Amino acid sequence: MRIILLLSFFTLFSYANMGEILYQGNCHTCHGYDKANSAPSAKAIQQRYKEVFEEKEAFIDFMREWIKLPKEESALMPDEIRKHGLMPILGYDDFTLNEVGNYLFETEF
Ligand code: HEC
Repeated sequence: MRIILLLSFFTLFSYANMGEILYQGNCHTCHGYDKANSAPSAKAIQQRYKEVFEEKEAFIDFMREWIKLPKEESALMPDEIRKHGLMPILGYDDFTLNEVGNYLFETEF
């Protein structure tokens, strides 16, 4: 019984942290948490995306599809393109983008 409890604890724990780990590995070099370096911060992205999408699913779906093919015409933060240049196509898979999207929606930066 104890082992089962422990295992489910680890499963929950690692699930909750998946988006954060993927964000750190894939996005953080360019997107700092609350400071813009070579790209807008996670905080700024969250604010802008939540202005447009109240619902988590729509927030994640739009972000996932935009990241797969970044375009100025569909960008929600076009001023950032003028400042930093267009985000490159980086070939992330859907799983990564859904987890990172969830993390960006849920986290307080
Ligand atoms: C090599 C640097 C780099 C990496 C890595 C990177 N980005 Fe970006 N990203 C940028 C730059 C530069 C911009 C600002 C210009 C633009 O919007 O194209 C940007 C813009 C964005 C935007 C705003 C799009 C809009 O609607 O205007 C989102 C959302 C975003 N990135 C999410 C991510 C996520 C999530 C990851 C990781 C999975 C990631 N980026 C990885 C450089 C990067």
